Amino acid sequence: MGKLSNKVAVVTGAAQGIGEKIAERLLADGASVAMLDVNLEKLEQTAIELDGSGERARVWKCNVADAAEVKETFSAIYEQFGRVDILVNNAGITRDSFFHKMTAEQWNSVMDVNLNSMFYTCQAVIPGMRDQQYGKIVNVSSSSSWGNMGQANYSASKAGVIGLTRTLAKENGSKQITVNAIAPGQINTDMTRDLPEDVKRMATMLTPAARMGNPAEVASVVSFLASDDSSFVNGECISVSGGFLMV
Ligand code: NAI
Repeated sequence: MGKLSNKVAVVTGAAQGIGEKIAERLLADGASVAMLDVNLEKLEQTAIELDGSGERARVWKCNVADAAEVKETFSAIYEQFGRVDILVNNAGITRDSFFHKMTAEQWNSVMDVNLNSMFYTCQAVIPGMRDQQYGKIVNVSSSSSWGNMGQANYSASKAGVIGLTRTLAKENGSKQITVNAIAPGQINTDMTRDLPEDVKRMATMLTPAARMGNPAEVASVVSFLASDDSSFVNGECISVSGGFLMV
């Protein structure tokens, strides 16, 4: 029996990277996991690798930036599992550019995927969580929420995630719902793979751990926040950055 046995979790952006490792970890903890992503092919492949039987891992193609798609997907999840105990809002994108060159498309697409999506997904689960008087929401922010060159859109979206997290924590805490965020530093995934070498070197230099993090090191913190081990932790944003944000 894992610590999340009989719990139902939803993980967005679960096809690869941090989301894949979060899904893997929550499955190992015993949860059933609804895995959502825009990239259905990769998502299906990942789900088979994580749970070949398909007993506890189910996939849904869902663009979390699309309100109607999110509504439809969560209806199907409730139909399948009957409840949602854990929501991990992980899907995110970057469209980096210096602000004076940034297009409205770059700004809006990042706000849509990284922040507006959480309005849709949280609205889909909070009424049910309030009714069942139980829920764990974990929102993925970023150390870039403190401001980062070339990432005005991304930083603003990730700072917005923290404001949303704290407000939902305050509004729903009395219903045994916790809402927390994590702020990863530089993690080894496709998102960071193509960053210029000097940018990666600089980030590593500013990280006391002197290396990039791995997705599994982020997933273990999500596992803590998704479980009753963190029952009195609410409205926090935990940095998972090897000490980057301390510097
Ligand atoms: P990734 O690019 O490897 O994976 C992101 C996943 O989200 C992909 O599977 C992608 O298909 C999916 N996705 C993108 N747009 C979507 C949409 N509209 N609807 C549904 N799914 C969508 O990225 P990574 O690194 O795993 O990032 C995961 C989260 O962690 C993101 O929110 C990112 O901002 C955050 N983060 C990542 C850091 C890093 O260094 N890799 C650092 C700080 C935060």
